[in-house]
Amino acid sequence: MGDDTDRTRRKHEHIEAVKALADKGGTGFDDVVLLPVSAPELNLAEITLETQLLGKTLASPIIINAMTGGTEEARVINRRLAEFARRNGLAMAVGSETAALKSVRQADSYTVVRDTNPSGVLIANVGMGADADAAQRAVDLIGADFLQIHWNVAQELFMAEGDRNFFGMLDRLREVASSVSVPVIAKEVGQGMTGVAARRFVAAGAQAIDIGGMGGTNFIAVEAWRRGRTLDPEWNRWGVPTAASLGEVAADLGLEFPIIASGGIRTGHDAAKAIAMGASAVGIAGPLMRLVTGDSPDAELDTWIQNIHWTIRMILVLMGARKVAELKERSLVITGHTAQWLDVRGYAEYLRAVARRQPPVE
Ligand SMILES: Cc1cc2nc3c(=O)[nH]c(=O)nc-3n(C[C@H](O)[C@H](O)[C@H](O)COP(=O)(O)O)c2cc1C
Repeated sequence: MGDDTDRTRRKHEHIEAVKALADKGGTGFDDVVLLPVSAPELNLAEITLETQLLGKTLASPIIINAMTGGTEEARVINRRLAEFARRNGLAMAVGSETAALKSVRQADSYTVVRDTNPSGVLIANVGMGADADAAQRAVDLIGADFLQIHWNVAQELFMAEGDRNFFGMLDRLREVASSVSVPVIAKEVGQGMTGVAARRFVAAGAQAIDIGGMGGTNFIAVEAWRRGRTLDPEWNRWGVPTAASLGEVAADLGLEFPIIASGGIRTGHDAAKAIAMGASAVGIAGPLMRLVTGDSPDAELDTWIQNIHWTIRMILVLMGARKVAELKERSLVITGHTAQWLDVRGYAEYLRAVARRQPPVE
């Protein structure tokens, strides 16, 4: 019972912290400029936002990323998110199911998502270190299409009640990936992956990577807020900024590999830049939590996503791309801190290659 009360309080405080804190640190997408083609030879009516991810067709490249579950408050939030996902054709991940697998009491805070959106693309979520049996149960609980395994070492360290021992996690990933019935996504939660980190996850069996870059929701700040601690501002920019992380991972894994860009994706411009840099889809969490727990009526939520979709469509036409994946064949220029980062990290070839991609000249 004590565990349940603590968990309910923790989940609630995470939501309150995200509402109270602003994004800091900077994703680096300001350094990225997409190049228009001037003569696109396209009709706006032909443009599609359909996106392929791990063998599924998504109606939109935007994914509602993992947030909550395991409490009554979470059940209400997840139902609203699932209705929003269904209305707008968005894939959706649930928050960590680790707790629900221990006590069946709050399972409905997760199953509500499948009940509300029977034919939607859903993503299960467990923490690093989950074993194969727990991972399969997390998938089965919501009839998930994919499984996210989140790596949140920074959060655990800053959480008073968090884990302290991180031995053996890659072995667990290997075990889960080789036995679970759906593709596995290895996911950071806001401190970003380097290319090397992503390669280690892939070597251990991850079939997709969610880079979880720095510049959006920061769980170091969230945990400090919960404890009433003043945070050394350096922690606001701890980690790999999303744009730099994406450049590293896309360069190392290649443009065909399924990469989800997340961490501070806030606009259609961010989404289009991320896809052009190499992502197959993008995840958004914090802003949606603020929207669904605030006073916004459903129509306001729908307008928010429609604006993002509208912007991506405009950018597709301007870049001469009929579908989202074609953005990866169009040019972009990366300047400033992100270019310096990628250069000193040995990714100069990637910087040059993405700057010189062009649609075929007839
Ligand atoms: C309230 C809240 C709870 C979250 N809980 C989880 C979780 O249980 N599992 C997980 O993998 N990520 C969790 N995340 C992290 C997000 O999925 C995402 O990786 C991170 O917030 C960065 O994206 P953003 O900048 O768009 O918020 C949570 C995020 C928020 C805002």
